[in-house]
Order: sequence, then C-alpha cells, then structure tokens
Amino acid sequence: EKGGYDYFMLKEIAEQPKAVADTLLGRIDAAGSLTLDEVRISASELREVDKVVIVACGTAFHAGLIAKYAIEHWTRIPCEVELASEFRYRDPILDQQTLVIAISQSGETMDTLMALRHAREQGAKVLAICNTNGSTIPRESDAVLYTHAGPEVAVASTKAFLTQLVACYLVALYLGQVRGTKWGDEIHAVIRDLAQIGRQVERVLQTMEPVRELARSLAHKNTVLFLGRHVGYPVALEGALKLKELAYMHAEGFAAGELKHGPIALIEDDLPVVVVVPSPRGRSVLHDKIVSNMQEIRARGARTIVIAEEGDEAVVPYADHLIRIPVTPTLLQPMVAAVPLQVFACELATARGNEVDQPRNLAKSVTVE
Ligand code: M6R
Repeated sequence: EKGGYDYFMLKEIAEQPKAVADTLLGRIDAAGSLTLDEVRISASELREVDKVVIVACGTAFHAGLIAKYAIEHWTRIPCEVELASEFRYRDPILDQQTLVIAISQSGETMDTLMALRHAREQGAKVLAICNTNGSTIPRESDAVLYTHAGPEVAVASTKAFLTQLVACYLVALYLGQVRGTKWGDEIHAVIRDLAQIGRQVERVLQTMEPVRELARSLAHKNTVLFLGRHVGYPVALEGALKLKELAYMHAEGFAAGELKHGPIALIEDDLPVVVVVPSPRGRSVLHDKIVSNMQEIRARGARTIVIAEEGDEAVVPYADHLIRIPVTPTLLQPMVAAVPLQVFACELATARGNEVDQPRNLAKSVTVE
C-alpha cells in the first residue's frame, strides 16, 4: 500500500503532480475557461458577494492565506482568512453577501465545522473545499469543490495542501471570470499556467537529492527559521509547521519585512534560515527587499537556505545553499516552493529517528474542539 516507499508521506509527496492534475481535470474547457458548474452557487449570487472569509486550521489555513492574495488580486473582493478555532468567538461580521470558504482535507475537523455552522446561522453562504467525499463539512455546506488528492494517510499534509491551493486558485479565477475584472487577460494566461503546474511540481521532485542531503546535515540543530514575503510568507509558515510536527524542532515562519521589528535578534552564528524568494520579475521590489534581508541575516552569521527561481542570479552571493524552483506566475509560486520544504521536513524527521507518518501527539483528523 505504500507503493514501494518507506513512508506514506514519501508516497504522497511523489503523488503530487497527479493529485494536481486530477484536481484540474474537467474544470477547464477547451476554450480555456473554467467550468465550475458543480459549485452550486449561481453566477448571480456570486456577483453579489461583497466579502470572502476563509476559515481553516493548520496546513489548510496556510492554503487559505495564499488564497487571499489570489482572490483579492483577481476579483477585488476583500478577503479575510481566519483560524477556524478563533472565528466564531469574536462575533464576526457576516451576512447574505458574505461567501465563507471552509478548507479541510478530512472534512471532519471540529473547529472548521463549528465555524461554518456559525457562518450559516448568520446567513452567509458556505463553500467547502474538501478532499473527502461525503464527509461532514461538505454535507453541511451550501456547495463543495472537491480536491482530488486521493486518500492522504500521513498525518503531515502534503498532496492535500497542493490540491487545496489548486482549488483556491480555481475559485478565485472563477469569481473573476463570473464577475468580470480588468484582469481578464491575466486570468486566461494564469489558467493556462495552472494547467502546466503539475509538470513543474514533477520537475521539482526530480531535483530533491541535495535537499535531502542538506536536511541530514542539519539533524543536530535545534532551531530553523523560515522567511517569506507576499505568497512566500504563508509558504514559510507551512515550512515551519512541517518541521515542528515531523522533526519536533523549534521552527518559526516570519514575514521577511518583520525581521527588523524583532525576530532579527534571534539570528546567531550558523542558525539555519530558509528564505523563500519572490520572483525577480513582476514584483521585483519585493525581490530586492528580500535580497537585502538575506544580506542582513548573513552578516549576523545565519546560514541561508535559499529557495529561488531558476535564472535568479541576484541571490547567489547570499545563498549558503540554493534550491532552484521553476519560473511560475507570482501567485502560483507556492505550488513549487512548498515541495522542497516537505522533502526537507520528512528527511529531517527520518534523520532524527522520528515516526514520519504518525508524529507524536498528533491525529490525522482533529474531531474535538
Ligand atoms: O483535515 P483538515 O484539513 O481540516 O486538517 C487541518 C489540520 O489539522 C491539518 O492541516 C494539520 O495541520 C496537518 N497535520 C498539517 O500537516
């Protein structure tokens, strides 16, 4: 059942290109438009939406944070992302024009379920993004967009995360398509790029040996920090979460721009810091800012592990270790940037002798609040 792999997690990491392709299957028509008829919220209802609120936990929450960038950019609808466990306790402002998106691999996470029940009681429409057919969260939602990752057995989420991102992009692009935005051309181009993204994930998977080697060399460390900006920030949070749950190491993700507001005091000699670098194209200001962050932390002794696009030469002088990822549109970069971090955490867990598929103290689905 592990298909020749030592762990389900390794199998599930390897399955990502297929999971991504399966989640796109049948959802893009020959003309390059999205056909999400399965989302049974009518186009006119979607045109009325004036706020999107995403609720989720853990890795699904990180997918939601990334979705916010895509939704706000492509649709210009304000989007909030909230930890499901916090949501209903702060008396959130919701009405019939609010679209709540509940993201959950298992469809049974109690915090997320309680959040969506609260949202529906307030009159909001709820769309579930879920990987488990017929589970409670989609059953209690107004509509569902299933991810087709197949069963995810390892407690640490990998392929479900990538397919949640695909589903979020589909929803964002669909909302843009239905409502019509000035980004019409960009939306078409991104749909084309999205159709290619599984192949790029495949390419990343083929170049992971140096990442595994690096992970083994860091097995004795106590702390790893992760920095990112824009959509790279949630990727940094996800990299840190993977490391906590699998390697039992102290790991923290920061927005790179926050460094000088406190976290830079943590930097000490030989501290590993993973940096997720935005594309030098498009948002080049952010790219240049993160390059100067790399300079600053290296000057203070950090050992930089840099995830950067192929062809980005500006990072080379500041990278102690360089992990290359394919060129993608800015908003899609998390699809390729998250993969080396999954491999990194899995290998570190193995090197530290931890149980990869079933980390201590954790359950695959958390059915209590
Ligand atoms: O089944 P769900 O997507 O609702 O689960 C949410 C979290 O419990 C889950 O993503 C958790 O954080 C994973 N173990 C992370 O790898």
